[in-house]
Amino acid sequence: MKQVKVLQLAMVLGMGLFMVACGGEGGEGPIVAPPQAPAEWADKHMPAGWWANAAKLEEGRKLYLGETNPDVNCASCHGKDGKPAKAGARDFRVGERMKLYSDSVWAWRIADGVPNTKMKGWKSKLSDEDVWKLVLFEASFGMPGKGWDAEKKTWVDAASGSAAPVAAPAAPAPAGK
Ligand code: HEC
Repeated sequence: MKQVKVLQLAMVLGMGLFMVACGGEGGEGPIVAPPQAPAEWADKHMPAGWWANAAKLEEGRKLYLGETNPDVNCASCHGKDGKPAKAGARDFRVGERMKLYSDSVWAWRIADGVPNTKMKGWKSKLSDEDVWKLVLFEASFGMPGKGWDAEKKTWVDAASGSAAPVAAPAAPAPAGK
């Protein structure tokens, strides 16, 4: 009898922990750092001068909304204004979480997706440059005006540090590959 009670208690506790781990609020879960980007992406960063570049941001917006290519419509799940339209889709407005993503991790997730979730990889439909434009636009929801500083390994004002715009003439072919 006593053993049964202990077992029941353990099950209730276990369920509780499980629910905490999976998070309530929109299935977003607790704020934890994402995994590291694999070698292929670890050293790739936003092309020089793109943070705080309104034209690239606009191109990212069009991609995100499916205006550039109807087959690529991030907004259908992540929401036009960043408020998730599908349960479980990452909410980019939550800066507290998104600041834990480097630009490399962000781009890698867009390219390769998140295994066993509705977030598939998009690399067959996007060039690396497109991926960076999407990072730029998505980051603007939760961290407007910020850019990833690859040297300091943190988000900084887009106008400063290694995220700063490059002076004209623009650098040749961005290191997208
Ligand atoms: C079919 C719905 C759907 C579409 C379309 C979609 N996503 Fe997602 N996305 C998700 C879901 C669900 C998650 C959460 C995955 C998880 O649980 O980690 C997610 C997560 C993400 C993440 C965060 C990954 C992480 O490690 O936390 C990024 C970045 C992202 N999506 C970008 C995009 C971009 C850019 C597009 C458009 C090219 C896009 N998504 C299209 C459903 C979608």
